[in-house]
Amino acid sequence: MKIPFTTPFIDQSVVDEVVDTLKTNWITTGPKVIAMEQEIVKLTSAKAAICVNSWTSGAILMLRWFGIKPGDEVIIPAYTYCATALSVLHCGATPVMVDINKDFCINTEAVRRAITSKTKAIIAVDIAGWPCDYSALAGIINRKEIRKLFKAESLKQTVLNRILLIADAAHSLGAKTNGHAAAIDSDVTIFSFHAVKNVTTAEGGCICLNLPGNFDISEEYKYLKMYTLNGQNKDALEKSKGGGWRYDILFKGLKINMPDICAAIGLAQIRKYETLLLPSRKAIALTYYKRFKEFDEFELPPLFERGHESSYHLFPLRIKNITEQQRDEIIDDITTKEIAVNVHFIPLPMLTYFKSLGYKIDDFPMAYDQYSREISLPIYPQLTGPKIEYIVKAVINAVEKVLNKKIEKLETAEVVF
Ligand SMILES: Cc1ncc(COP(=O)(O)O)c(C=O)c1O
Repeated sequence: MKIPFTTPFIDQSVVDEVVDTLKTNWITTGPKVIAMEQEIVKLTSAKAAICVNSWTSGAILMLRWFGIKPGDEVIIPAYTYCATALSVLHCGATPVMVDINKDFCINTEAVRRAITSKTKAIIAVDIAGWPCDYSALAGIINRKEIRKLFKAESLKQTVLNRILLIADAAHSLGAKTNGHAAAIDSDVTIFSFHAVKNVTTAEGGCICLNLPGNFDISEEYKYLKMYTLNGQNKDALEKSKGGGWRYDILFKGLKINMPDICAAIGLAQIRKYETLLLPSRKAIALTYYKRFKEFDEFELPPLFERGHESSYHLFPLRIKNITEQQRDEIIDDITTKEIAVNVHFIPLPMLTYFKSLGYKIDDFPMAYDQYSREISLPIYPQLTGPKIEYIVKAVINAVEKVLNKKIEKLETAEVVF
């Protein structure tokens, strides 16, 4: 049985929505993007949503919007995908890396210690779809002594008058905190709609704004939309209308808009996200959870705790007391069964480019420990019961082979949800 690590959800409704877009003869940014933004606002209750062509470009846009420049610092976890750090570097600023907790989230105490008078933003990362503790992070940036350290050096920084809290929610569309979308617990939340994500537009992303009341959200929305289109005061659809040819360039924008042909894919998916796609991911995660909980050798990812609920984007299983080499051997053995698994993530300080900038993995012991024992299992709506059981058995067999022992079921393994 051949099992890919991930596969996009393309049903007839996705095909119909794309064909509909093609037949309208309008394939770049237009009504489908607006509809997608409205669906995201409906799903999250964010104050506004702006679609872009990737998470990465959305993050660069928001860091620039806030006026982040060389000499500034942005705190990020060492355990994330490179884009979190690269977005900061593309603005000329310095990513200040800190360690994570056992639940993969950025360590809030380490964040507090890393704040200096140069800190302009924090990017927390919802690894695997598990939302970070944004209320703790908000508590830190709102402390009197931390606010006093903050030096506003741009118009937006003057209006906010504190550190900007950004959620790297590339994995966490649909994650919840105390019953509401986790996406509204930070100032800015950015989703990715890359091909492997819970909802995809092939490539794409979305910025959700939850800025405080002294920001005019509809003005910020208009400004950011222009920013995605070279700073042009009209989009192509408006320009194409009779007599609409004259336009102006108001500032040095980026060209990072999402086309309608891409939005159409995501639109058909997001309409059934809460009724079909998210529940089926959850069901798979719970099956894995129950099966692996039967053995003492496995460390399960957080799915719902402390009022938080995951978006079930990844299932990052960890195996207790193994080395990185044993983890690699377990993956090799699983691969012989034609099951594709993955590792999320190789900590940034282990990658050549970040090493060349002086980051050292020894400074992030928890990030290394999590990485060295982690295997991400396939999780997507098309994965049916027999395939899940095939994966579970392959993992157990591989662990037994590499540890050279039979692993026994626990007597008290009953899991109640
Ligand atoms: C945690 C995290 N942040 C950011 C990104 C970048 O997303 P995109 O490919 O849409 O730029 C990814 C992509 O996989 C990711 O996993």
